[in-house]
Amino acid sequence: MVSQSLDTLSVATRAHTNIALIKYWGKRDDALYLPTSTSLSLTLDSLYTDMRLTFDSRLSADELHLAGEKQDEASTAKVALVLSLFRERYNCPDASAVRVESHNHVPTAAGLASSSSGFAALAFAARALFEAARPDIPRMSDTELSTFARRGSGSATRSIFGGFVEWSYGTGSSDSVAVPLDNADWDVAMVVAAISTQHKKISSTYGMKHTAATSAFYSLWREASEKDLQEVLAGIKQRDIDVIGAAMEANCMKFHATMFAANPPFTYMTSKSMQVIEFVHALRDEGVSAYFTMDAGPNVKILCRRSDQAVVHERLAAAFPDITLFDATPGSAPELLSEQQWSELYG
Ligand code: DP6
Repeated sequence: MVSQSLDTLSVATRAHTNIALIKYWGKRDDALYLPTSTSLSLTLDSLYTDMRLTFDSRLSADELHLAGEKQDEASTAKVALVLSLFRERYNCPDASAVRVESHNHVPTAAGLASSSSGFAALAFAARALFEAARPDIPRMSDTELSTFARRGSGSATRSIFGGFVEWSYGTGSSDSVAVPLDNADWDVAMVVAAISTQHKKISSTYGMKHTAATSAFYSLWREASEKDLQEVLAGIKQRDIDVIGAAMEANCMKFHATMFAANPPFTYMTSKSMQVIEFVHALRDEGVSAYFTMDAGPNVKILCRRSDQAVVHERLAAAFPDITLFDATPGSAPELLSEQQWSELYG
């Protein structure tokens, strides 16, 4: 949605979060957010960020409002940086400041990757906003757009597309991009066990930097991750949840092992996470194709067949009544929201 007058031009979008099956865990360039290895994810439908951007000539600087609360300068800095890249790309350094209104439908900073949907929503909306301001500038492709999302948060690169998405290592900034692999419109689903939705103690940005700098296992991780990636790619081609799941789980364990071997060591796993992991193994022993992965937080994400999702959900709910469960199926690329949709949702 794009309103008429340039001064109050406004665009609203929805972008979905993604969960990495093959993890991104380290930057070879901190400023450009170039990863130390290729990663691969599944975009989810039910966890997303809605965002509206509005040019506002009354503002002296870009503003970020999260669920209606204006954020301080430090929390707004990354958003302002991404917007400045768009001002540069669209050759309008004097464009008005932008008011960013964001509503997360993802528990923020609990290892549920709200930064992936947040920065993908920002990039997707910013492209539409600046395109409307400068229709004479050639259109930016989704591939290029993914490099702009990347500058906000690495995992956001992958949320520019739906389904299974690879974020390539690349040779530099312009080809370290998201590549859509498969829209996952087949028998695939996830159940997210949200063990804690509190703010995490060690951010993923810090956790990966510390691990890359000190972990005795880090170079082994990079080599092994490349092999896991090839297996997941083969599994996607064959549409075989067991091949994908086994390689995803193995990659997750190696990823967490890098932190056990960091100096000083740390972990995001809790005893509750381990209980859920054991439960997933027990389900598998019963013949249900269920596989776990975990990110920079205690929550456990379970990959399964869509046709088994209800069983996985019910069994987990019965065993862990205190854990909140979110069901998800593969999600799509970001989309524009109409002015009417936005006002119905957020007034
Ligand atoms: C464990 O994308 O949150 O979820 O690029 O520093 O913002 P920054 O980190 P972020 O890291 C995500 C790490 C992960 C694995 C993954 O999503 O690939």
